[in-house]
Amino acid sequence: MSVFSTDKAPGSTAFVPPYPPRLPSPPSTLRRILIARRDFLEMWEEQAFDLEFSHSRMFLRQTFLCNSPESVQFAFSQKNGSFQRKSPQMRYALEPLLGDGLFISDGRTWRTRRKMVAPIIHVSKIREFAPIMVQAAIETRDRWAAAAGSSIDVLAESAKLTAEIICRTVFGSQLGHNYAEQIVRGFSDYQHSIDQIDVTSFLGLPDWFPRWRSGRLRKNVRQIHAVLDEVIASARKRASDGEPSVINHLFEARDEKGRPLNRKALRNETGVLFMAGHETTANTLAWTWYLLSQASDVEAKLHAELDAVLGSRTPTLNDVPQLVYTRAIVEEALRLYPPVPILPREAIKEEEFHGVRIPKGSLLFVVPWLLHRHRKLWDLPDHFIPERFLPENREKISKFAYVPFSIGPRICAGATFGLTEAILCLATLAQKFQLRLKPGHTVKPVCRLTLRPEGGLPMTVHPRTLGSPQASTETPVPAAVCPFNHAQ
Ligand code: HEM
Repeated sequence: MSVFSTDKAPGSTAFVPPYPPRLPSPPSTLRRILIARRDFLEMWEEQAFDLEFSHSRMFLRQTFLCNSPESVQFAFSQKNGSFQRKSPQMRYALEPLLGDGLFISDGRTWRTRRKMVAPIIHVSKIREFAPIMVQAAIETRDRWAAAAGSSIDVLAESAKLTAEIICRTVFGSQLGHNYAEQIVRGFSDYQHSIDQIDVTSFLGLPDWFPRWRSGRLRKNVRQIHAVLDEVIASARKRASDGEPSVINHLFEARDEKGRPLNRKALRNETGVLFMAGHETTANTLAWTWYLLSQASDVEAKLHAELDAVLGSRTPTLNDVPQLVYTRAIVEEALRLYPPVPILPREAIKEEEFHGVRIPKGSLLFVVPWLLHRHRKLWDLPDHFIPERFLPENREKISKFAYVPFSIGPRICAGATFGLTEAILCLATLAQKFQLRLKPGHTVKPVCRLTLRPEGGLPMTVHPRTLGSPQASTETPVPAAVCPFNHAQ
């Protein structure tokens, strides 16, 4: 069943953004692992975009791919208790930095932390944080105005913007702003030092088996922890100033026995929020800018909506429900380039799906990269068509087929936060600017922890004024120049 019907026949004029070459047939296990070490996106064969549920073996470990709404619902919703544990690779990669933080814990610790942290960034709290989002976007707007006509790296700019937003939200406007740069540097150094695939875990060796961690990584962790401890201590001294911030709510949070979070737990949870809530939204914004630059019809509709809803005033949270096309563009960007393109889990209990035994200890994957481009679920799966997500079409999409924020009890705790942030930032900036890809630049999606354009996204800033759908006369770089397109 297709979740989106369009009258655009194949050969439609909609833009097909780049994706890596697909393998003609399934590779050997070793080759798949070697490719995955370089880039998760490149390890898939053509047929993987048709599969619904499959089973294979990676050395000592059995692996299962859930690639249909039914199997995703089974694993992440109905049997979440059995598949809630993150894969050993992910725990190994993030545990030095995040300890028992919500993102990588499971069982009782996860339940307790989820109850304490999720309500603080829940949809009901967005009203407190939306002004911070818009203020940071306005500062970016002023910076871009000064850069008009020149080239900026939109990936770096988006990362700076979302880092400001998450730091100010978590630690309060002043403290967050003061520490944002240091925290970003620490986390991005960490990301460079960790190995994407822990081969020891794929081999099926147990958690206690010694794994090597570089001195650089350990030093890096110490530095990040020191910065987080320092900023948390400063925030505690200011806790009485009444400024809305996540950390003030975390100081007040209590578990079921009435106990507050201790120093380490506070550090772990603020680390989780920064890590989970910074790069994901930054990548979403960067991809959105790229897609808009290649689809002038979509861009014109966006401008028409912004002009009609906002005129020349800055958006507020109250405008978000009216920005339906803006939202559809962001959701389509999240479909084509899900920032977290692979969701790996370890089975902590034996289960069975349609007669197939899933033993305890096996690895199970939900892969938004595959699911969001699945040929049985989407018409023109590789095309950029935001209309899929307009309210009249949206309900045809199964919530288990579109999972940029995951699904089930472990769904992203900041999903509404992230989506609202992306809409408000895009609206504030697209009101005033069009961005154009630097001529000759090749865009290549790559996944190392998150999915982003490899080597950044150089684009030129063109100011636009109210009612000018095509402020820039520069033509978008045609998709055909990109060697990674295979479905023109
Ligand atoms: C567009 C932006 C975002 C995307 C695409 C995204 C996506 C995700 C995904 C896929 C997961 C589950 C990962 C897994 O199961 O392995 C997740 C978890 C999480 N996200 Fe987000 N996220 C975004 C923004 C945010 C923001 C802004 C915050 C915080 C303010 C946040 C906080 C969290 C937390 C705390 C978790 C762990 C939840 C748990 O394990 O119970 N995310 N996110």
